[in-house]
Amino acid sequence: MRLGIISALAEEQHGLIDAMQDAIKVTHGMRDYTTGTLWNIDAVAVLSRIGKVAAAMTAATLVEKFGVTHIIFTGVAGSADFAVRVGDVVVAESLVQHDMDASPLFPRFEVPLTGLTRLPTDLELSRQLAGAARRFLDNEENVVQLHRGMIGSGDQFINDGVRLAALKDGLPDLLAVEMEGAAVAQVCFELNIPFAVIRTISDNANESAATDFMHFVQTVASRYAFGILRNFCQG
Ligand code: ADE
Repeated sequence: MRLGIISALAEEQHGLIDAMQDAIKVTHGMRDYTTGTLWNIDAVAVLSRIGKVAAAMTAATLVEKFGVTHIIFTGVAGSADFAVRVGDVVVAESLVQHDMDASPLFPRFEVPLTGLTRLPTDLELSRQLAGAARRFLDNEENVVQLHRGMIGSGDQFINDGVRLAALKDGLPDLLAVEMEGAAVAQVCFELNIPFAVIRTISDNANESAATDFMHFVQTVASRYAFGILRNFCQG
C-alpha cells in the first residue's frame, strides 16, 4: 500500500509531516507533496487547497506521479443534518457533487457519462477508518458521535440556512457539506483507486458558519485528524 493523504488546509493536516520518517518534499503544480513513512505505512501527504478542481488535480497527481494505491481525504465539513453536531465525525459512504446539474441532458446531480449520482467510497478502507475514529473518539472527554453516510461537495462555502434547506430538499439523506470530497471520489472512481473521506464537523452551514469554521479548524480539527490517522496507520 502507498497511501495518499489529502487535506484542503494546513490546519487539517497539522503534525502529520512532523510525524513522517524519511520525509522528502517535492513541489509540483503549486503544491508540496511530502513522501515518507507514517507509522510504518508508505505515505504521501499533500494540501489540495480549496474546491473541486483543486482537489481533483491533487488526487490525479497523487496517483499518476506519486504512485499512490489508496487515498484518504481528511478535513472539516458543515453539518447538513440535525443529528450531526459540531465536533462529530462523519465517514463518507458515498459522495455527491451537489452543484452538478446538467439537466435536462442528465438527471440533476448525476456526473455526466458515469451514470453515477452517489460516488461510493471503498468499503474496507472506510471501515478501517471508522474503526480508527471510533477508538480515538472513545478516549475523548466530550461525547462525540461517529456517523456514516452521504457527504455533498460543491464549489460553495454554505453559510445560509435557506440554501442548506434547498440542498436538503434534493438530497434528504445528506449528512455534511464540504468542497472537495466528491471530486476526489470521481477521480478515484475513474482511476480505480480505493479511497475514503473523513470529516469533522466545524459548523452548521448557517449564518455563523464562517466564524465557527475559523475557530474550529484552529482548535480541534488538526488534533482529530492526527489522532485518527495515527490509529488508522497503526491498525
Ligand atoms: N467546510 C466546512 N464548513 C463548510 C461549509 N459550511 N460549507 C462548505 N464547506 C465547508
